[in-house]
Amino acid sequence: MKYSLATLCAVLTAPAVTAFVVPRATTVITSLQATTIVPERVAPDAGYMPEWEDRPGLLPEEFMKSDMNKPDLSGMWECPLTRWNTENIDIVQAQKEAAKVPHCPLEIRASDADNQAGAAYFANNKEQIRSDLLKHGAIWLRGFDLMKSVSGFREMHEALGLDPCLDPLHSSGLRKFASERDALYEEVNKPSLRQHYIGLHCESTTKRTAAYAAFVCFQKATEGGGRFLVADGAAILAELDTKLLEKLYERQIRISVSNLDLPPALPGFVKEGFKSVVDAAVAPKFDMDLEMIYEADGKPGRLQAVETAESPINRHPVTGLPVWFNNAHNHARKLRDRRPCGVPEVGMTEVFYADTMEPLSLEDCQEIKRASEKHITALSMEPGDVLLVDNYRALHGRDVFQGDRFHAVSWFTWDSNPEWRGDEKRMVEKNGLNKAINKMMDWLPKDFESNQS
Ligand SMILES: [Fe+2]
Repeated sequence: MKYSLATLCAVLTAPAVTAFVVPRATTVITSLQATTIVPERVAPDAGYMPEWEDRPGLLPEEFMKSDMNKPDLSGMWECPLTRWNTENIDIVQAQKEAAKVPHCPLEIRASDADNQAGAAYFANNKEQIRSDLLKHGAIWLRGFDLMKSVSGFREMHEALGLDPCLDPLHSSGLRKFASERDALYEEVNKPSLRQHYIGLHCESTTKRTAAYAAFVCFQKATEGGGRFLVADGAAILAELDTKLLEKLYERQIRISVSNLDLPPALPGFVKEGFKSVVDAAVAPKFDMDLEMIYEADGKPGRLQAVETAESPINRHPVTGLPVWFNNAHNHARKLRDRRPCGVPEVGMTEVFYADTMEPLSLEDCQEIKRASEKHITALSMEPGDVLLVDNYRALHGRDVFQGDRFHAVSWFTWDSNPEWRGDEKRMVEKNGLNKAINKMMDWLPKDFESNQS
């Protein structure tokens, strides 16, 4: 998702700029904050937290095996363009409609017979599973032996007829594959971000959005935590204060994905020159529509990369159901500053009212937090468990964890609406840049790594 721009900005501008980056919001009181109290960090809530079951998994050398008899999927589809359908939404009516949807996620637990059937279970139940995914927004597949390995996970989504695509921010080069030939990305398992809570988001930018996702657990966190979070965008819409929804829908939102802090005393022409360099050299690599804006959040010398205005509510491309479709719960600064957050200042995000470019008020953030967290299921995913997600309906995130954890994800494009998929496929031969950047990332301090699943 959206922190990667910050990462690459840091790479391309270091050390000149990073020397001035404020290290952590909690430890620094600037002149602007001098009269305010640094907020306490509290672990976010969840409406439902199922128990762990301690089911065994495979060893890494076993679960990482790819089936070499299957074709290489590296030349997969590009992530499709975001399908916005936001005109003339009657908020009160939309909330009524959204309140009627069935619970998300649906749970499907494997029986012994299902496990005996292996991939055939998914081939035989494909229509039902695909229709349930549309109805519920997400399906938690529990206790399936098949998906305990990379090869079995691929058999599962192939049996369901899902068609892999790139991550919306793949072009940044900062998305790491768990198994490239199986179109499988790593989730955020890295030790430096164990204590970073990833709030609710869709895998989406204003420009590109994956249609579906399948998140898989190969190894749960060895020393606790690491629950995967899912919440229904329809349920959140139904829950939220109507006046707040009307306000946000009318004013729209803009999301800043990066903070680059320059010394405020720099001459204007230097600052403008720097902005032009970032604009021309860095932003295009992210395949997002970004505007570079100085001091939008009031911090002197701060350059922010801000996405174009978007509606916080969008109609689902297939069902037409209006849902809460935005990343405010993850990205709003006032929420991040009040929960475990392990990214450096350069990777901090913000959400603005689009018309005035003021950051969302604390009151509005707290209502978004209340309504969102009431509908979070904090999944206790065990090895082999998969969460299928309709990315235009349900939002996802990840709680903090201790020890080692290995979860992975595949993204999918539109398989039954080829006109929505576009005709772009990944240019594997152009991947040299991505590989070079990935390699460079390995040499950087861990703080500079992407922090999103
Ligand atoms: Fe994600």
